[in-house]
Amino acid sequence: MKRLPKLLLGLVVLVAVLAVAYRAVNKAPSADLPANEQLLQVLADGGCASCHSANPELPFYASLPVARSMIAKHVADGYAVFDIAPIMEALRNGTAPDEVSLAKVERSIADGSMPMMEYYLVHWGSSITEAKETAVMAAVKDLRATFYPNELAAAEFANEPVRPLPDKVAYDEQKAALGNLLYHDTRISADGTVSCATCHGLPTGGVDNLQYSEGIGGQFGGVNAPTVYNAYFNFAQFWDGRAADLAEQAAGPPLNPVEMGDQTFDDIVARLSEDKDFVSAFIAVYPEGLSEATITNAIAEFEKTLVTPNSAFDRYLKGDKEAMNAEQVEGYELFKEYNCATCHAGVNMGGLTYELMGQRANYFEDREFTQKSGLTDGDNGRWAQTGVERDRYRFKTPTLRNVALTWPYYHDGSVATLDEAVSMMAKYQVGRTMKDAEVAKVVNYLNALTGEYNGKILTNTNVQKN
Ligand code: HEC
Ligand code: HEC
Ligand code: HEC
Repeated sequence: MKRLPKLLLGLVVLVAVLAVAYRAVNKAPSADLPANEQLLQVLADGGCASCHSANPELPFYASLPVARSMIAKHVADGYAVFDIAPIMEALRNGTAPDEVSLAKVERSIADGSMPMMEYYLVHWGSSITEAKETAVMAAVKDLRATFYPNELAAAEFANEPVRPLPDKVAYDEQKAALGNLLYHDTRISADGTVSCATCHGLPTGGVDNLQYSEGIGGQFGGVNAPTVYNAYFNFAQFWDGRAADLAEQAAGPPLNPVEMGDQTFDDIVARLSEDKDFVSAFIAVYPEGLSEATITNAIAEFEKTLVTPNSAFDRYLKGDKEAMNAEQVEGYELFKEYNCATCHAGVNMGGLTYELMGQRANYFEDREFTQKSGLTDGDNGRWAQTGVERDRYRFKTPTLRNVALTWPYYHDGSVATLDEAVSMMAKYQVGRTMKDAEVAKVVNYLNALTGEYNGKILTNTNVQKN
C-alpha cells in the first residue's frame, strides 16, 4: 500500500526531469542571430528536410520493421508536396528565399501542422514550442521586409503573403509601340489568319475563353491559354515553364504548327519586309532590322505594358478600407486560412513555383471518372521539360489576377466556373472541404482582383455561359 505514493513521487520526479531535459534540448534560436540563421536553425532542428528533400537523412528508426514503411510514406508524401532544400540553401547563403517557400513555412508553423507528431515524439528537439513559433514568425517578417520590400502596402499589410501590383514597370515606349503592332498582326502566322491577340484578346481578359485555343487551319492545342496580363511577373512562361522569359515565349507560337504554323522566322521577316512603311518605322527603333531577336524583343516590351494595377483588393492593401466589401474581406481571410496564399503568393498571386496538381487527392483519376477524359501530353506538366519523375503533373501556379475574366480554368480548361475552380482547389491542393458559403466568399474576393488597364477597369466582351 505504501508503494503507491512512492511510485507517484517517482513519476512526478521523472516528468519534472524530462520537462527540464526537453526544454534544454528544444531551444528556440537566440534572438541575437540574424533572421535567416534563426529560421534555418528551427527548420534544421525540426527535421523538416528529413521528409521534405530529395536525399533525406532518415531518422535512426527508419530501419525498424514497422517504422520503415510508415517513414517511407511520410518522406514520399512530404517531398511530393514541398521541397524545402531551396529555402534552406538560401537561408544558409543569406540570399533571397522564394516567397512561396516563405509562405509555406509560415503557414505550416502557424497552424501547428508541422513537423508531424510521429516525428517529434521520437525527435525531442524538433517540436515547435511557442518560443520557436514566435521566432519563425519574426524571421519570416524580417526576411520579407529585406528581400520583398512592400512599399505600396499600408503598414498593417506590409507582411502579407500577397503584395499589390506596381502601377507600371519600366519599358521602352518606341519598342512597345512596335510590339503592340506585331502583337495584333496576323501576318505573323503562315496563312495570315492568326495573331497573338486571336488567342490572347486584350478586351477578353488576355485569353480566348476557350478550353483549347484555335490556331491556323482550325487546329486546336492541348492546354488552356493563360492570360498575357501581368505575365511579365511570372518566373517562367508556359504551364511547364519551357520559356525563361517573355521574349523566349514569343518565339514559340509563330513556329508552333497548330498555332501560327510558320516554318522559320525568316518567312515572317520576308512577309513583314513587303511592308516598306513598317520596315522603316522598325529600323528607326531597331537599326539591326527585322529578325527573330528584334521581333520577340518588341513583343516582350509591349507585354510589359500589360500590368493591371488598382484592383479593389490592391486598393484595400494600400489602405483604402472601403475598397472591398465585408464579404470580400472575409473571402481574403479564408483565402489565407485555406493556404491558398501559399502557392498563389507575391504580386502576381502565382507564377512563382511549379506545384503538383492533386497533391491531396488524385485530380486526374477523378477527372477520368467524371469527364471520361484520359491523360494527355499536356497533363505531364513540368516533367515534359525535365524528365524528372517528381515533376510529372506539376504546373506553374497560374496568376489569380483578373481570374474572374479568364474562364475556363486549369491547364486543361476543364473547369467552367470560378466556384468549381475554388472548391476543387480546396479538395485537391489543400485536402479540405470548403462549404458553399465559404466558396461564395472566396469567389467574391477573387472578383476584387480585376485590375485596370490604361486607366479603365478590365471587362470581358465575351459572355460566360452557365
Ligand atoms: C515525418 C515527416 C515530416 C517532417 C519531419 C516534416 N514534414 Fe512537413 N509534411 C509531411 C507530410 C507527409 C506532408 C503532407 C501531408 C500532411 O500535411 O499531413 C507535409 C506537409 C507540409 C507542408 C504543406 C505543403 C503544402 O503545400 O500543402 C509544409 C509547408 C510542410 N510540411 C513544412 C514542414 C516544415 C517547415 C517542417 C519542419 C518544421 C516539416 N514540414 C516537417 C511530412 C513531414
Ligand atoms: C493559337 C492560340 C495562340 C496564339 C496564336 C498565341 N498563343 Fe500564347 N498561349 C496559347 C496557349 C494555349 C498557351 C499555353 C501553352 C502552354 O503552356 O504550353 C499560351 C501561352 C502564352 C504565354 C505564357 C503565359 C503564362 O502564364 O505562362 C504568353 C506570355 C503568351 N502565350 C503570349 C503570346 C504571344 C506574345 C503570342 C504571339 C506571338 C501568342 N501568345 C500567340 C495560345 C496562343
Ligand atoms: C499547392 C499549391 C496550391 C494551393 C495550396 C492552391 N493552389 Fe490554386 N492552383 C495551383 C496550381 C498548380 C494550379 C493550376 C492547376 C492546373 O492547371 O491543373 C492552380 C489553379 C487555381 C485556379 C485556376 C486559375 C486558372 O487560371 O486556371 C484557381 C481559381 C485557384 N487555383 C484558386 C485557389 C484557391 C482558392 C486555393 C485555396 C483553396 C488554392 N488555389 C490553393 C496551386 C495551388
